[in-house]
Amino acid sequence: MAPQALAPKHLRRRLIGWAAARRGVRRRDGFEEEVDFWRDYLDKHHASVSDRRLWVAAFPPDLRRWTELLAAGTPELEALELGSGPVSLLAWGVDHGLFRLTAVDPLANEYATLMEAHGWSYPVTPIREDGENLSKLFGADRFDLAYASNALDHTRAPRRCIEEIAKVVRAGGLVYCEGFVREGTNAGWSGLHQHDLVPENGHLVRYDQRARRAVLTEGLGLECLQQKVQPFIERGLTSHGYEWSGEKGRDWRYDHWFTLVWQVKDRSRG
Ligand SMILES: C[S@@+](CC[C@H](N)C(=O)[O-])C[C@H]1O[C@@H](n2cnc3c(N)ncnc32)[C@H](O)[C@@H]1O
Repeated sequence: MAPQALAPKHLRRRLIGWAAARRGVRRRDGFEEEVDFWRDYLDKHHASVSDRRLWVAAFPPDLRRWTELLAAGTPELEALELGSGPVSLLAWGVDHGLFRLTAVDPLANEYATLMEAHGWSYPVTPIREDGENLSKLFGADRFDLAYASNALDHTRAPRRCIEEIAKVVRAGGLVYCEGFVREGTNAGWSGLHQHDLVPENGHLVRYDQRARRAVLTEGLGLECLQQKVQPFIERGLTSHGYEWSGEKGRDWRYDHWFTLVWQVKDRSRG
């Protein structure tokens, strides 16, 4: 393919600035959309989210078995959740003392305001932070387990987030990620949906809108223990923002949903 002719430098800088500004606008709008979604959701559904029976089904089905394995040598597991939203799917685990959970979400303050406005409480209250900055906040090897659901593909830099997760989870600890396959495409590349994530041979791979491929988990000392792709409907999650109301448009219940679990290898052994 013939190399593309480059615009003059001053023009290029302006074009880059313009593109960055556009991305910024799209992200800000994406955050506003996210808050609007949860405001509307909490207005209508909080009563159901506070029903403890729904917390069981929302809890990731395979995570219990993995935490049991981890807990064998650790008195109290410390877990981290990236991008929990206002109503983490891990509430049941916290309620049952499976682990102590620290959740981070850049919209934590907005979510706190929404919850307070209704006088509601929930077992998980995220703190305001980007997944891209975890090690600055927590230091290395702080957690036994990290979890993210439907969130890595909402971040600005998913590779950076996974690098940070690999730093803050101790050797021997676990990383459990789940979410929609190719949500960028599914959502028409709108708002925060700027990445297509795909599990491939035990790795998480990111495709961008131009189908450029990057392996997000390469070189981080993450050994895959489990990879699963299933129609979302088989995840058994029908609460916490995943209610199907028979809306017009695409039936997303049959979109592919991935689960990937890795163990952090002993860093001293390379
Ligand atoms: C679709 S919600 C998922 C919420 C919840 N985990 C679930 O499965 O219902 C995506 C969340 O990712 C958060 N998010 C966006 N950018 C992020 C970042 N850089 N680091 C961590 N979380 C981020 C959003 O604020 C939002 O709460």
